[in-house]
Amino acid sequence: QRLEMALESIEKGGYPHFMLKEIFEQPRSILDSMRGRMIAESDHMMMGGIREFENKFVNAERILIVACGTSWHAGLVAEYLIEDLARIPVEVEYASEFRYRNPIISERDIVVAISQSGETADTLAALELAKSKGATIFGICNVVGSSIARATDAGAYTHAGPEIGVASTKAFTAQVTVLSLIAMILGSKRGTLETSKLRQLMVELESIPSKVEKALELNEQIIKISEQYKDATNFLYLGRGYNFPVALEGALKLKEISYIHAEGYPAAEMKHGPIALIDEHMPVVVIATKDSSYEKIVSNIQEVKARKGKIIAVVTEGDTTIPAMADHVIEIPETSEHLVPLLSVIPLQLLSYHIAVMRGCNVDQPRNLAKSVTVE
Ligand code: G6P
Repeated sequence: QRLEMALESIEKGGYPHFMLKEIFEQPRSILDSMRGRMIAESDHMMMGGIREFENKFVNAERILIVACGTSWHAGLVAEYLIEDLARIPVEVEYASEFRYRNPIISERDIVVAISQSGETADTLAALELAKSKGATIFGICNVVGSSIARATDAGAYTHAGPEIGVASTKAFTAQVTVLSLIAMILGSKRGTLETSKLRQLMVELESIPSKVEKALELNEQIIKISEQYKDATNFLYLGRGYNFPVALEGALKLKEISYIHAEGYPAAEMKHGPIALIDEHMPVVVIATKDSSYEKIVSNIQEVKARKGKIIAVVTEGDTTIPAMADHVIEIPETSEHLVPLLSVIPLQLLSYHIAVMRGCNVDQPRNLAKSVTVE
């Protein structure tokens, strides 16, 4: 028993929980997921799995993404990335819905299955279905040799290393990194992404690990914010554009490990329902980085303030407008809007972690949840 405990504490590398260790590993795991796939100085990008099916990818009529949970959120980020950079229509599907709704799939479709464990039953069944209809199946898995990885035609591993905490953190950022690379490769091959823009994105992507490092320095500030809101019964998360999937992911993290009810919404949809919930007891996490939807999200913040909601805003370093309106301001480094989820998700992971710890929850093994869901 003692030996087991000693081993576990070595595995946690000095951190109290695997989840915190994995959050702090992200500068490294993101680097590992892009290693050997990109050399910014020479605009060189390569991904074995894509090269094998390059023609199919470049001429794909449509890319269908199937996944569950956090991996589905990474898929949503990919929808924005691929449509914008490579101009291929993308649909993101919950694997469990896709497999049972008689979907339309053709041989010219590429189906991308995203899964950390590579064992999720619904995702596996969805890709088997797509395969039987002749689509090309591409996998993005973390666990090497997993069932999904084996069932695909080609794929790319995320290389995030083993993820033990049930709530996914470093696997998500690794998935988003690989999907960004794919969008950039496809954009450049299809001629929809100019070389200068591609180069810019590559340099930006290369700087992400050190910016994540910087975002992790927010830990102390986030502990203080967590103390103030640990007893909240509800949380709302809002974001637009690339930060909309991040809002969903932030809310999911909080639900999973702290058991606080949380909802993620695209900020503009707030007026179609969730705004009715806002009063002085409602903390609202708004991801409002400087990007193309900045002005819009600033007005969403004002709408929440007018109803006395408490604003916890994640902003770009140096923002001077939002600090005047928000109750708390969390500053993350500036980056391209295409890559912002890799940074904006970090404070949200930390917030849910600390709130859960303060509530005495079992962070690494939350009730009712499993790391890999091998039954439907
Ligand atoms: C479970 C896990 C989640 C994960 C989801 C999909 O619900 O608790 O963290 O996001 O499955 O898992 P996958 O391994 O397919 O990414």
